[in-house]
Amino acid sequence: GDRLVIAVDGTSGSGKSSTSRGVAARLGLRYLDTGAMFRAMTWWLLREGVDVRDVAAVAAAAGRPRIESGTDPVAPTITVDGADVSIEIRRDEVNAAVSPVSAVPEVRARLLELQREVIGDGAIVVEGRDIGSVVWPQAGVKVYLSADPDARAQRRTAEQGGTDVASTQQSLLERDRIDSGRATAPLTMAEGAVHVDSTHLTLAEVIDTIVDLAARAG
Ligand code: C5P
Repeated sequence: GDRLVIAVDGTSGSGKSSTSRGVAARLGLRYLDTGAMFRAMTWWLLREGVDVRDVAAVAAAAGRPRIESGTDPVAPTITVDGADVSIEIRRDEVNAAVSPVSAVPEVRARLLELQREVIGDGAIVVEGRDIGSVVWPQAGVKVYLSADPDARAQRRTAEQGGTDVASTQQSLLERDRIDSGRATAPLTMAEGAVHVDSTHLTLAEVIDTIVDLAARAG
């Protein structure tokens, strides 16, 4: 692509979505949440009754759902076979199954193709785990966003209006463990990525940091 691509990777709950949407809105760029695509795949597999721990079954089914992502940072959408699933994909059942599903190479290959299609000629902020390393290594700006587990769990729990910080933290760390340990496109800090630790930064400060990086990248 010719136009700017900003890749935002990082651990679960590090603030990738709020940050990426904020940066895209500020710079007039599109926005792609690749995590929502893996979640949509997982939601569909669960609904179809596919055993998500059965790698062969997941691989065989991965080509079936039609997954489409909108790219408006103010109102992102995600549909499966035409139905909006933005609420359903945030449920606990999906949180628990999405990392094993995302480790299956056939799932990644299918979604990689869709992701590259959406990125097209750029002008987009893309968030995920492997954007700077695998999906779009030529991205003009690459960010690796992290935060202490306590900060992540507290923010995520507040976001969801819940109270159980400990179980939220356990679920975030379990996803990190599987996402970092998988053989295909693991979560990692991509070559050339700038590490931003958001533990002691406000959302506005993180957004400013990335907007500055983008200005320097041209
Ligand atoms: O970003 P989010 O937390 O919604 O992503 C949900 C899950 O999707 C991650 O825990 C990971 O298993 C998977 N994922 C991935 N590669 C990406 C984006 C998300 O494997 N690029």
